[in-house]
Amino acid sequence: MTTDYKELGFVNTREMFKKAMEGKYAVGAYNFNNLEQLQAIINGCGQSKSPLIMQVSKGARDYANSTLLRNMGKGAVEMAREQGYTIPIALHLDHGDTYELCVSCIESGFSSVMIDGSSHPYEENIELTKKVVGYAHKYDVTVEGELGVLAGIEDDVVAAESVYTQPAEVEDFVNKTGVDSLAISIGTSHGAYKFKPEQCTRNEEGMLVPPPLRFDILEEIEKRIPGFPIVLHGASSVLPKYVDLINSNGGALEAAVGIPEGQLRKAAKSAVCKINIDSDGRLVLTAMIRKVFNEKPTEFDPRKYLGPAREELMKMITEKNKNVLGSADRY
Ligand code: G3H
Ligand code: 13P
Ligand code: ZN
Repeated sequence: MTTDYKELGFVNTREMFKKAMEGKYAVGAYNFNNLEQLQAIINGCGQSKSPLIMQVSKGARDYANSTLLRNMGKGAVEMAREQGYTIPIALHLDHGDTYELCVSCIESGFSSVMIDGSSHPYEENIELTKKVVGYAHKYDVTVEGELGVLAGIEDDVVAAESVYTQPAEVEDFVNKTGVDSLAISIGTSHGAYKFKPEQCTRNEEGMLVPPPLRFDILEEIEKRIPGFPIVLHGASSVLPKYVDLINSNGGALEAAVGIPEGQLRKAAKSAVCKINIDSDGRLVLTAMIRKVFNEKPTEFDPRKYLGPAREELMKMITEKNKNVLGSADRY
């Protein structure tokens, strides 16, 4: 039996994206795997009065147990209302890779799913995405599809033109599949090591500056599907402040480079309605936990190191909503 996400207090992404498009901002899509991340996400977005997409990956479901995670999401909405937050909240499957996984999430109360068919040949991506849309729309669940493969430092394809979304395909893909939003590839990538140092230049302070996003491709896409919600994955900025904190407390993150915040702000003003952030949150938590462990080696109460990490994550999310996504004070 399918759980009605509306009864759990979630909304799908349709209205959120419409408002984001009109208001020229992007909705933050933040991943969670545990209690502290969830608390920070809800309170960060609640306090900044920003719409929220809480994302759960397949890995998160495996890590935390899918039933527990879904109920944590439900509890988070209840908590948000108790705190007086009136923000809309969507529960979204991040990078669903099969029809069955999407169905399982919809059955358990997700209000939005991503079917990532980007690793399949074009026609297969269409077939898979269309099948998920056919099921999801029966329950008014919104679907995100993906066209183009995100560049990744591991597979050595960062500079290859073929990884970018081809604007000529987007209209056909959107029409044939019926998706509600489209993730595109314009130079972002997942993780903390988005670019090789040799792909970057250095600014006056000696910091690595990555190649700019391909706004020309984004503009071309916008021309072909005007007003259609676009999604940016791999959009963490890999904030140097937290990388430095990790490294000054025993970590060894070398040449970690993210997407400059100015580029994301520019994207958020366009048809980009959803911006995915996971790695930045991971870095904040790691930085703060390392700091406490380093400064207080006798500490062993998890609340004493997870608490400060949670507070800092909430701060980072609030600032991101306000200064980068432009989603603050919208609700
Ligand atoms: O894009 C992927 C997200 O950062 C989720 O990562 O699959 O390790 O949970 P994960
Ligand atoms: P980052 O690794 O840049 O945070 O991207 C997260 C993401 O795209 C989740 O789907
Ligand atoms: Zn992603």
